[in-house]
Amino acid sequence: MIKVYYFSGSGHSFAVAKYISQQLNCEIAEIDGKEERLSAEKTAVVVFPVYCQNIPKQVKIFLQNITSKYIVLIATYGKISYGRVLYEAQKLVSGEVIAGAYIPMGHTFLSGDYSFDTEILSPIIERIKSPQRVHIPKTRKNPLSNIFPAFRSRVSVEITKNEDCNNCGVCEKYCPVEALKNGRINSKCIRCLRCVTNCPQQALQYKNRRILKKYLDSFHKDEIVVYL
Ligand SMILES: Cc1cc2nc3c(=O)[nH]c(=O)nc-3n(C[C@H](O)[C@H](O)[C@H](O)COP(=O)(O)O)c2cc1C
Repeated sequence: MIKVYYFSGSGHSFAVAKYISQQLNCEIAEIDGKEERLSAEKTAVVVFPVYCQNIPKQVKIFLQNITSKYIVLIATYGKISYGRVLYEAQKLVSGEVIAGAYIPMGHTFLSGDYSFDTEILSPIIERIKSPQRVHIPKTRKNPLSNIFPAFRSRVSVEITKNEDCNNCGVCEKYCPVEALKNGRINSKCIRCLRCVTNCPQQALQYKNRRILKKYLDSFHKDEIVVYL
């Protein structure tokens, strides 16, 4: 049995996860921090975004708890850098990693374009059908990536709520870092935009500061990496 799990702030990782589940004709589930719901399917495909060259907190917890025999790790990134996220993810899981990939996608703060080169995934889908252990090597990580990531996001992206907010609490449920109360954002916010993406009233909006857009536009790392 195969299952695709995903965590997605702004839809890019979801697009990849959905494609894989369609190709394999298997179940897809969102990582929601409720580890007790984990079932032990033989193969788990885990798709998630790179956040400041790190694994999102919720995904870390999930990886530590997953009991599948075979695991595929796929990280989407916004064409800046991916650090050594897959190497770190490999260390968290107890099962055998059989494939991994870094997929360049639009950046959360720049793009609503979820397209990607689906050909990247063909050899991974084949590998899932005949599993074989793979070793993901340690790649370079910027030593500054762990320095106040929430603060850096806060100064560059602004999230506001409008009068359509009816305090339904959905945004709080989706927030991976418990940074929301009644649509108001506190200092824990990492600007993943999962609240904005999932608000049923579309009452949350975000705005990039001009300096951030300039910074992000200066990167065009389009590197696809596949480990088999
Ligand atoms: C808080 C935050 C930090 C990010 N850090 C990085 C990064 O270090 N390198 C990078 O290339 N992209 C980075 N991105 C961009 C995302 O990794 C990329 O857009 C990803 O595909 C988003 O997936 P999602 O839409 O499923 O959340 C970051 C995005 C956010 C919101």
